Amino acid sequence: MLKYVYNNMLKILVAGGTGLIGSNLITKLKQKNYKVVLLSTQKNKADNQSIFYWQPAKNELPEAALEGVDICINLCGAGIFDKPFSAKRKKELIDSRIISTNVLFEGFKKRKTPLMHYIGGTATGLYPNICSDKLTEDYTKGEGFISNLVGDWEKATHQFNDIATLVSIMRTGIVLSEKGGFLKQLATPIRFYVGAVPGNGQQIISWIHIDDWSRMLIHLLENKIAGTFNAVASHPAKLQVLTKEIAHCLHRPLLLPNIPIFALKLIFGERYQLLLTSQNVSNDKIKNTGFKFDFELSKMALQNLLEK
Ligand SMILES: NC(=O)c1ccc[n+]([C@@H]2O[C@H](COP(=O)([O-])OP(=O)(O)OC[C@H]3O[C@@H](n4cnc5c(N)ncnc54)[C@H](OP(=O)(O)O)[C@@H]3O)[C@@H](O)[C@H]2O)c1
Repeated sequence: MLKYVYNNMLKILVAGGTGLIGSNLITKLKQKNYKVVLLSTQKNKADNQSIFYWQPAKNELPEAALEGVDICINLCGAGIFDKPFSAKRKKELIDSRIISTNVLFEGFKKRKTPLMHYIGGTATGLYPNICSDKLTEDYTKGEGFISNLVGDWEKATHQFNDIATLVSIMRTGIVLSEKGGFLKQLATPIRFYVGAVPGNGQQIISWIHIDDWSRMLIHLLENKIAGTFNAVASHPAKLQVLTKEIAHCLHRPLLLPNIPIFALKLIFGERYQLLLTSQNVSNDKIKNTGFKFDFELSKMALQNLLEK
């Protein structure tokens, strides 16, 4: 397969690039000399040169942000676990993903030049909550709010097939980073000796090290690979095991008993179901394209992230 030429001529627009995954990715793209510009809904971050302010909810996207852009990466989305699932919050979770994708699509459609590659990050929350089967990319969609949200998000992404030469989706599992997200939420109480495993701990977590996530995106980009790919490491781990490994890396004992389901319901409301999700997601498809993960085992990933 032909590779893109590595030079600073290729211009990449990252929407939602100020977040956890985006910041990691952008550092790696810049190290490779790509010219990167961002779209942010935070006006104070914008300089109208490298970061452009946009308001997808008002259908406002500055044309200048799309000028000369060859590749668009969309990582937009309000934090799924950040706030209780009220009707208003559910609408924010949907709109921040689907409206932003639609607004980007309309913006690029108006432009004369086609996009080389559009890459959207979505989530393994599309799949049903089962771990008896390996969840491959063609597995049936699950039921419920998150599965429906991801289904609609991917439908919106497929619109780009009309205007981009290549369209890829990274259907992402739990991203492990010491800077935020799942790992920070689990590790922080452990650091303070109050860590405990949510539920019975038998939930299977399909995780990916944040550096592998960014490397996987760059692999799709540089090898011109289109399609939908699960972004997870090869060996999902039980939550009980992950929690013990985190405690080991942080040199802390796990003193408290597991948190029972009724307490999770009380604390997190409808979101408690996310903590009980158990999915054994396959990464065979991306490995078959030649991609090699640096972190295959949770122990290695956690040591790398927590013992620096
Ligand atoms: N982290 C994970 O474990 C994980 C797993 C599966 C899927 N994902 C998905 O991957 C994407 C990136 O994840 P992340 O962990 O980097 O999340 P993050 O840190 O919360 O970043 C998400 C980005 O979305 C943008 N955003 C927030 N609200 C928005 C809105 N209303 N309209 C448009 N953009 C908005 C924000 O950029 P500005 O504030 O600059 O606009 C923010 O930088 C998200 O869609 C997330 O659902 C993440």
